[in-house]
Amino acid sequence: MPTLTIHPLMARIECHEAETLLDSLRRHGYRVPHACRNGVCHICTADWVAGEMPDKARYPSSLSRTNSQADQALVLLCQCIPKDDCEITMPDLKPAHFIEPVELTCRIESITAWSGSVFGVTLEAPAGKLPEFHAGQYVQLLIDGQEGAFFSLASAPGKRSFELHIQVVPGHESAEKILEALQANSTVRVRLPMGKAFLAEAPRGPVILAAAGTGFAQMKSLYEWLRASGYLGDIHLFWGVRKTAEFYALPTLSGWEDDPNLYCHTVSGDLSDNEWQGHHHELLRVIGMANLDWPTAQAFISGSPAMVYALSDELEKKGLGAAQIHSDVFEYAPR
Ligand code: FES
Repeated sequence: MPTLTIHPLMARIECHEAETLLDSLRRHGYRVPHACRNGVCHICTADWVAGEMPDKARYPSSLSRTNSQADQALVLLCQCIPKDDCEITMPDLKPAHFIEPVELTCRIESITAWSGSVFGVTLEAPAGKLPEFHAGQYVQLLIDGQEGAFFSLASAPGKRSFELHIQVVPGHESAEKILEALQANSTVRVRLPMGKAFLAEAPRGPVILAAAGTGFAQMKSLYEWLRASGYLGDIHLFWGVRKTAEFYALPTLSGWEDDPNLYCHTVSGDLSDNEWQGHHHELLRVIGMANLDWPTAQAFISGSPAMVYALSDELEKKGLGAAQIHSDVFEYAPR
């Protein structure tokens, strides 16, 4: 199966036998400009970088604006069925399954105090505007003076309403101000979606969802979307908190009890029978003991950069490649 490398995204996709590059790209969630699909409109072009280009796929030299090498190396994606690995450049191509972020004024539907100083906030998009996002992505609340108000979407896409989990620890000024602003107003401006740690297609292997604290929100969105989309595979959920009271969503977990393929592991720092050292050691230990087909798994991790990188290293030792491990930390705190 030939592999296509896409520059400058540095993404790699597998091409099926007898499949054009246009179809391979679209099958993997890339939005590629195209129209006729039969080599006439010349819209589906890309720069050919490496590999053997089939003659049929070559951009017609009679249409070249110049005789430059660049023109000669243009390929028509709808006509290109690669025999071997190849590489193209498409400077304007957005990542797979990319959704352009938009700003919406949302109604604040409800704010509910849960345990552990966590508040469940439900927002509703304006009538006729379904908020577009993938499970696992996050939003920014556009509140004056609170530039860092980023929160994971805690519900699955497909509805006008969506849920956020906001922890307001006393003394944590910015979270207090965000909550005050939400409580004092009936609407809030929201920018969404953001984040690359998401699922747009059900995976083939098991799924690992590992979260610390309110990182549970992202895992809830992923879990609900996976089951709503018909995914029947094993889901291993690991949730670690510092104090038992911070398990703020236990009723949600109870509601998932009948799922035979969900394996829930909760780890709290104040239980006497673990080795919690004020960090995430116990969570890592429990995850490491799980019985699953590691090399085929997809893992999503939400927590502090230290926790995410420690777990990521463990997962790599278990056989997961970098492309199978997803976390927003990789974007905002690269190491
Ligand atoms: S889509 Fe028209 S030439 Fe490829």
